[in-house]
Amino acid sequence: MGEQKFTRKIACIGAGYVGGPTMTVIANFCPDYQVTVLDISQEKIDRWNSDDLPIYEPGLKERVLKARGQNLFFSTDIDRGIQEADIIFVTVNTPTKNFGEGAGKAVDLQYIEQTARRIKENSKSDKIVVEKSTIPVRAAETLNNILHSGNNSIRFEILSNPEFMAEGTGIHDMENPDRVLIGSMNTPSGQEARDELIKIYERWVPREKLITTNLWSSELSKLVSNAFLAQRISSINSISGLCEVTDADVDEVALAVGKDTRIGPKFLRAGLGFGGSCFRKDILNLIYLCEHFGLQPIGDFWQQVIAINDFQMQRFVQRILKAMFNTVVGKKIALFGFAFKPDTGDTRDAPAIHVSKMLLKEKARLCITDPHALSNAQKDLEEEEGDITFETDPYKAAEGAHAIALMTEWSQYQTLDYRRIFDSMEKPAFLFDGRNHLDHQALFDLGFNVYAIGKPDRTQFDQGSQ
Ligand SMILES: NC(=O)c1ccc[n+]([C@@H]2O[C@H](COP(=O)([O-])OP(=O)(O)OC[C@H]3O[C@@H](n4cnc5c(N)ncnc54)[C@H](O)[C@@H]3O)[C@@H](O)[C@H]2O)c1
Repeated sequence: MGEQKFTRKIACIGAGYVGGPTMTVIANFCPDYQVTVLDISQEKIDRWNSDDLPIYEPGLKERVLKARGQNLFFSTDIDRGIQEADIIFVTVNTPTKNFGEGAGKAVDLQYIEQTARRIKENSKSDKIVVEKSTIPVRAAETLNNILHSGNNSIRFEILSNPEFMAEGTGIHDMENPDRVLIGSMNTPSGQEARDELIKIYERWVPREKLITTNLWSSELSKLVSNAFLAQRISSINSISGLCEVTDADVDEVALAVGKDTRIGPKFLRAGLGFGGSCFRKDILNLIYLCEHFGLQPIGDFWQQVIAINDFQMQRFVQRILKAMFNTVVGKKIALFGFAFKPDTGDTRDAPAIHVSKMLLKEKARLCITDPHALSNAQKDLEEEEGDITFETDPYKAAEGAHAIALMTEWSQYQTLDYRRIFDSMEKPAFLFDGRNHLDHQALFDLGFNVYAIGKPDRTQFDQGSQ
């Protein structure tokens, strides 16, 4: 590895959606830093070292190839990685706990704790430990207690540096962040550690975008950011329900509301609801914290954001049922897209999972197509009973189908030959656009019965025949 050529050595524990891309970006901008990404999963590390990276993210592969073997390394030798590092980023997963106290709400901190113990056991020199995983407020205290427990003369300085990137635009977000947040202890050594991290980010992030706070503000800000984003989605989705029964158009309402500069236009697109590994988990975590501190009404407020999200998916399926003459038994429904958003293969908590399960309960036959998420979709639904097929070609997926339900707004779905698709489908042909992504008038003109979120039905049936 040409040891002496590096001024600093970074290790990152957790080679997932956050660890892999963030470290790739750091390695690209800091060629004098050695960056080693570590994971317990041999399969994942092997893929990071191959041409078939374990995650899909636009722009990621060329950046990995640029640095891999130069100053970017992927390894399962976690102990050695820890020993060598001056700075250790922690990017392990922090899922919602599904057992015991706090089940369904609290964060399962076992991977964080295992990582802290491993760092402590293998450290022979002082280290800066950077929490990048999303964790509850004051988790740094737990880390600190574990790292400094027992007879240990080694000092660990803990920083909080939450990641705000969004999957699908992850590389762009990391290279052009709205802000980078660094929380530290308000002590001389805490500030020294913070400055080490600033030295890394200021290679490409303008100084005014580097925000420094105390540790607890930094930890809480990440949860609050995700809660606010999810809340915007639930707010507009709640209005979409009202639009559908009043013949208002949710896109028109969103445009009018978003023009108010106090509100702004972003995150006001109505759809099937939010998904992904973070929003639900982080809101549940926030709710758990509120309840823990006796702030039940605040917890209840945030709980509604999740309730509306669940309701939105149920409403979507109810609309499918109602439109298709109150039964989908034996009918083929082609799901266009399965990833929780476009430009990623990630399906964690994807609305498509919930919608698929509801449709399978109604005994529909599902044919799922997605450009990057089919293998994850297969895993997500492997325990479900019913008729499910997976198809890479959307034209084949739609062949003989009674309906198409668009789950993910992949750009390629806008340019398909819908005349060809319509001709190959059963009639009447239904199209349910869960992302308001397609040209509804054009589809209607082709003969489809079109149902979009927060918009009046466009049906070919005579008024009153349904
Ligand atoms: N995915 C996102 O868009 C996103 C964005 C911002 C923040 N986050 C947060 O970042 C953290 C990581 O998320 P992710 O999506 O990258 O998760 P991930 O599941 O993709 O990756 C986590 C990795 O950690 C590894 N791991 C777990 N325990 C380990 C251990 N003890 N030692 C070594 N490796 C271990 C797993 O094998 C896995 O590869 C979470 O806290 C998440 O909330 C995620």
